[in-house]
Amino acid sequence: MAADVVLNAGRAQLLVEGAPFLILGGEVHNSSASGLEWMEEKVWPVVRQLRLNTLLVPVYWETVEPREGEFHFELVDGVLAQARREGVRLVLLWFGLWKNALSTYAPSWVKQDTKRFFRSELFEQLDFVRSRPGISPCCQAAIDADAKAFAALMAHLKKVDEVQGTVLFLQVENEVGLLGSDRDYSPIAQQWFEADIPREVAANFDCGGNWESAFGGQACSQFMAWCFARALEVIASAGKKEYDIPLYVNAWTIQYDGEYEGSYPTGGPVVENIKMWRLTAPSIAWYSPDIYKNNFAAECRKYALQDNPLFIPEARNSLDAGSNALYAIAQCGAFGFCPFAVEDMLQTSQAFELPGAYQEQGINGRRRDETHAAHYLKEAYGVLDSLKPFLSPQAAVSVQGYIFEDDRRIGMRFCQYRARITCIGVYPHLPLPAGVVIEMAEDEFIIAGILSEVEFLPLCGERSRPEFLSLEEGYFSAGQWHCTRIMNGDEHRVTFTDQYKILRIKLRKDGR
Ligand code: DGJ
Repeated sequence: MAADVVLNAGRAQLLVEGAPFLILGGEVHNSSASGLEWMEEKVWPVVRQLRLNTLLVPVYWETVEPREGEFHFELVDGVLAQARREGVRLVLLWFGLWKNALSTYAPSWVKQDTKRFFRSELFEQLDFVRSRPGISPCCQAAIDADAKAFAALMAHLKKVDEVQGTVLFLQVENEVGLLGSDRDYSPIAQQWFEADIPREVAANFDCGGNWESAFGGQACSQFMAWCFARALEVIASAGKKEYDIPLYVNAWTIQYDGEYEGSYPTGGPVVENIKMWRLTAPSIAWYSPDIYKNNFAAECRKYALQDNPLFIPEARNSLDAGSNALYAIAQCGAFGFCPFAVEDMLQTSQAFELPGAYQEQGINGRRRDETHAAHYLKEAYGVLDSLKPFLSPQAAVSVQGYIFEDDRRIGMRFCQYRARITCIGVYPHLPLPAGVVIEMAEDEFIIAGILSEVEFLPLCGERSRPEFLSLEEGYFSAGQWHCTRIMNGDEHRVTFTDQYKILRIKLRKDGR
């Protein structure tokens, strides 16, 4: 049975073989999956050590179709075999016509034929774009060629993987959009831009005329979003016709307020463009943000929309990855989280092979010592794995999460109590303070976290604080609670210090 993603009371659920599946994963470096030996030596040992349940792995058009019409799937089959041996699921990333707004993974027969596969034309090439512009999203021949290759990949996956379902779903292209210009100025793009907007766009956005009169200051980005969404719909629908599993698109997000189009890839599924993408690319199931910014929580919230299941395919592989995962999953209802270049995490913590700049990254002006990044990701994933039966709306009264990026306190509300959560401190060698509060019943909570303290308070208008009936430390295995310590006396507080841990508490309020 193919994997499916559903939205349930604001929380996204990935269903695998009909049961909820939480992706505690990682994405490999761009080039890792071009060699099976490399995967064997450098990647799978890390997957094992971090106990990842899913790996995000690119499939490269240049290796799938090195000569036009000649398809090779040895690499795909090899990675599939490795994943099955490891008991790990895969998400495949189709590096086709566009990878980070460029066409670097297109086969050389595509790159060389610049007439048949014409490039975008930039208004004025910005100096940070070091490569030739990518292939134009208005180039039908290129879109059709990519769609043919993607369809061949999907047909192959159906043949070799439909029964096992090792591949959960696929990402179509990678961080699409146009860099270096506000829009494409190639002759066809120019013609389309000057023409009246398509009828369905006019009807849905309640406007008319050409792109400029319809969208004013947003004309370039909405036009480019329509061009890329139109192209990806051709590619995605061709693939889905062969094998109907979910497809999503990831976004290089806007990095700072007021950033201009072309400084980030214009036309990609940044939040402002999602309406155009939804309308134009109905085969795409959701849009995912790649979050490398320090305000992880705010970026997550932007994409946790009513109609957009949240999945984080790329985030910094930093000391804060585990805390970010807790927040994305508990507070924003994400169904998965994956740090990018996950195979580097053990190098950073064990071998110190990376330059100092990678070991100590600044966050909001604070220095971070990345030495134990892998340890903390593994611990946070362990907590999430333990708590996963209770993260669905059916299993709990409420699920809330917190992370302290700037503030020092936050409040939460439950049916019978309020809580005040206090940050214990931000330290260079420890993850950002974060946690999960699961309200199991009106007097019963499961709480997990790090570097924070949770105090339960009466509701407004009630006078006395609740008292603990029990406070236990432990973990869940297959949904069964294993108590490792009964906390009382000096330990009678919901306090999390320098390691993630899980507490289960029962409260009593006056009169009950
Ligand atoms: C975002 C891209 O999607 C990834 O493929 C990779 O290039 C990272 N950036 C590198 O930080």
